[in-house]
Amino acid sequence: MKSLTITSSLEVYESLDEMPEEIQVLMQKAIEVRDEAYAPYSNFKVGAAIHLENDKVVVGSNQENASYPSGLCAERTAVYYAGAKFPHSKILKIAISAKSMRQKVDSPVPPCGACRQALVEYEVKQEEPIELYFMGETGKVMKAESVRDLLPLVFDSNCL
Ligand code: THU
Repeated sequence: MKSLTITSSLEVYESLDEMPEEIQVLMQKAIEVRDEAYAPYSNFKVGAAIHLENDKVVVGSNQENASYPSGLCAERTAVYYAGAKFPHSKILKIAISAKSMRQKVDSPVPPCGACRQALVEYEVKQEEPIELYFMGETGKVMKAESVRDLLPLVFDSNCL
């Protein structure tokens, strides 16, 4: 028997003000789109902003549905839009912000497992990592250099 140890290193910033200007601008776009999320069932709004290699920014917010499983997270709304609209442009960075209409969210909210899986598909496709920045409504911001840092054992086309 062998054991396997998996480690990931993430950076934690005290607040958005500590981040480089371009990340602040990207996160601001995530915050703006977050506030227009369609989340009448969870009252939990999420926004995502993606910076592409062609310098375009694509945004998405969570879109819920009376048939709950038909809704979609902000990150996948954004990444599928990027994949559809700019299929040949690499995804460089994604900024994510979440806000609850019920309580203050002051710690970073990472993307859910399904969104990690969706995002990693594009890392594999483009053969380059995607930087992730995620936060709540206020407070600390976390940075991961790659989706793989949040999803170390990747299920991808090599597994098929
Ligand atoms: N949500 C996202 O948009 N992104 C995530 O990574 C986690 C959850 C949404 C889905 C649902 O509309 C609401 O947040 C509550 O789960």
